[in-house]
Amino acid sequence: METPNVTDKVIVITGASSGLGESTAKLLASRGAKVVLGARRKDRIDSVVKEISATGGKAAGFAVDVRNRAQVETFIKEAVDNFGRVDVLVNNAGIMPIAPIGLLKVDEWDRQIDINIKGVLYGVAAVLPQMQKQKSGHIINMASVFGIKVFAPGGTVYCATKAAVRTLTEGLRMELHSENIRCTMISPGAVLSELQTSTSDPSSAKFVKELYDKVGISADSVARAILYAIEQPADVEIDEVVLRPTAQDF
Ligand SMILES: NC(=O)c1ccc[n+]([C@@H]2O[C@H](COP(=O)([O-])OP(=O)(O)OC[C@H]3O[C@@H](n4cnc5c(N)ncnc54)[C@H](OP(=O)(O)O)[C@@H]3O)[C@@H](O)[C@H]2O)c1
Repeated sequence: METPNVTDKVIVITGASSGLGESTAKLLASRGAKVVLGARRKDRIDSVVKEISATGGKAAGFAVDVRNRAQVETFIKEAVDNFGRVDVLVNNAGIMPIAPIGLLKVDEWDRQIDINIKGVLYGVAAVLPQMQKQKSGHIINMASVFGIKVFAPGGTVYCATKAAVRTLTEGLRMELHSENIRCTMISPGAVLSELQTSTSDPSSAKFVKELYDKVGISADSVARAILYAIEQPADVEIDEVVLRPTAQDF
């Protein structure tokens, strides 16, 4: 069944080479959206685009590293060149290297700040002029239950980045509603994806794996939440969706 408020929308998704981004791209394309996929692993992006196209969906894919502002600008330009506009940006790319703060994995702190926070801001900077020109748009930022609750030891820096995404999204909403730009944050709990592979500390990796093996739910659950936010009539903004595995106890 096609949903009128999704059909033909141009939806740009960062971090679409796996996990939540990939699932979201496939679901939205199946509902008639034109999806534009970005991530660093271009081979993975190409195979998702191929899969969507093979089932009659409309998709384009590009290599982008969200740490690089110029690349993010080019990515948005490529979306506009291909499909003429950008109705929705899903700022989804992110990493979660878990480790106690005392291990001083400062490089991982930097990468989380660069990807999870600055990458989101670069997405906003790249898409905002286009949405202002269109006089409409929708920015969806991927936060986390860990942006609401702190998971420590281990998740201190990751939780801080996701708390920043929460704050940014609320501020964006307050600033952009008068320009007819909707803002939504999605805050998932444990969802099965490749996210846990970014953890380099062996004992934290073991903890995360055990948790996800026990309670993790499918990435489709997040894709459906994103679809729900997008398919609302233009005068309705879904500000936040928090979703967890029923079995998750925090
Ligand atoms: N899974 C969960 O339990 C969960 C819960 C709450 C929130 N989240 C959030 O959901 C988002 C997606 O994560 P996921 O669970 O789907 O994990 P995933 O399968 O590891 O996907 C992460 C995506 O981000 C991309 N990415 C990473 N660094 C990037 C960079 N520098 N530039 C561009 N793309 C980059 C990856 O692609 P490349 O490596 O190809 O670049 C990949 O497509 C993240 O923001 C994560 O924090 C996940």
